[in-house]
Amino acid sequence: MTTSSAAPVVSTPSNGASSRPTSILHRTPWIPPVAVSAKGSYIELESGQKLFDAVGGAAVACVGMQHPSVNKALKEQVDRVPYVYNMQLSNQPAEELAKFLTESSNGAFELVGYAAGGSEAMEGVIKLARQYFHETGQPQRTNFIARQLSFHGNTVATLSLAYHPLRRAPYASILDETHFHHVSPAYAKRFKKPDESEEQYVERLRAELEAKFIELGTETVIGFVAETVVGATTGVVPAPKGYFRAMKSVCDKYGALFILDEVMSGMGRMGTMHAWESFGDGVAPDIQGVAKGLGGGYASIGAVLMSKRIASGLRGASGLWKHGHTYQGNPLSCAAALAVQKVIVSENLLENCRIQGAYLEKLLKERLQSPNSPAAPFTFDIRGGGGFWGIEFDFDGPEAAGLDFRGGQFAMLLQAHALENGLVIMGMTGGASLQGNKGDVILLAPAYNVTAQEVEKIVQMFGDSVEAVLEAHRV
Ligand SMILES: Cc1ncc(COP(=O)(O)O)c(C=O)c1O
Repeated sequence: MTTSSAAPVVSTPSNGASSRPTSILHRTPWIPPVAVSAKGSYIELESGQKLFDAVGGAAVACVGMQHPSVNKALKEQVDRVPYVYNMQLSNQPAEELAKFLTESSNGAFELVGYAAGGSEAMEGVIKLARQYFHETGQPQRTNFIARQLSFHGNTVATLSLAYHPLRRAPYASILDETHFHHVSPAYAKRFKKPDESEEQYVERLRAELEAKFIELGTETVIGFVAETVVGATTGVVPAPKGYFRAMKSVCDKYGALFILDEVMSGMGRMGTMHAWESFGDGVAPDIQGVAKGLGGGYASIGAVLMSKRIASGLRGASGLWKHGHTYQGNPLSCAAALAVQKVIVSENLLENCRIQGAYLEKLLKERLQSPNSPAAPFTFDIRGGGGFWGIEFDFDGPEAAGLDFRGGQFAMLLQAHALENGLVIMGMTGGASLQGNKGDVILLAPAYNVTAQEVEKIVQMFGDSVEAVLEAHRV
């Protein structure tokens, strides 16, 4: 790929809104267009343009917008009890949702703590894990081990826990490097050595984790934390078979906790209620964070799921969760989440998610990787499961000499082009190297009730966008 010194192409979707006035300090280098209505997976903009959301916002909208059952539950809860403070009162939907989350876990989880989103949930996970050892006679356990190229949230502690060099760069000097440590990602397509079998790769990663335990002092480690399927850094990367069993064996050997972050990949996203059931060797964690698919975008909610080990430990000590926030267990959020979960069960959406996910994979591969596809030389990997798919592009091959992105990044150019043309997707860069400076991935995460026709529409619009962006940058 040639690089040019011409002015960089800003990956800015126009949608007729880029220059409107705003008093919001937005997170994007462009001013995002305003949504005025949404139904199912369709979103209408102020301009009248209709978009199809193929990524559920940020892998959140799992039953689509305006589902009648969820709307009804929310409206009824507003009229009943919109708010109570959890240090004074509990509420019916919070109690019922916790019962649902524990009873549906086949014994994996015994107690639930609430949060207002994914970062809050993972912050709660960190504090719960520390509280557990503080109260059960092992106060010397102060170290967490997580992975490079991971994401666990945007608070200072969760940024410390996770590792993505570019995302943490502005805050690096205030992040905690004393208690948070990192080992290699489990990303075979990029980091497995060519002469290594999958088993040997898993063993290398297991040995690295054990060496890190030993380096820190095995009795000082609180736990190992990982996303079951990595989402917002490397872009939908499941671990090799046997990886989670191997990592848990190290935690078990030294009495530490095995902790999963299923904020993005959990609550049905992988086609099973918990991602570890299908993509984590069936190994249940001691503690798990969930969020996005829990409330499906109807309310801001996350949760911390606690195993019997944690529950028994705390019951035998303080008997309470010392961590809290004002909106924990908010009645509106819990009513929305409970309704979303009931929809997933009553409409058999996990099965639909698996069926349509497999169809999406098939169509994506046909469109992007068939020998005569213009995208084939650059489509490095199509991976995922259930309703969570990553399409990774690569421009290291000889064909890339004929392209010039003029300072832009392909994934972001593609995201912008797709949005302009009515398809919402999520572009991500920097997940293909430990330095965070290489890699173009697109995330797709349609609603679990996506139809076959909608899958075809996604692939048609996505394929067209890929080809158009490549064509526009040929030299
Ligand atoms: C794995 C993971 N953990 C935590 C978070 C943070 O969640 P939130 O953005 O709701 O704070 C995210 C968000 O994408 C995530 O993917």
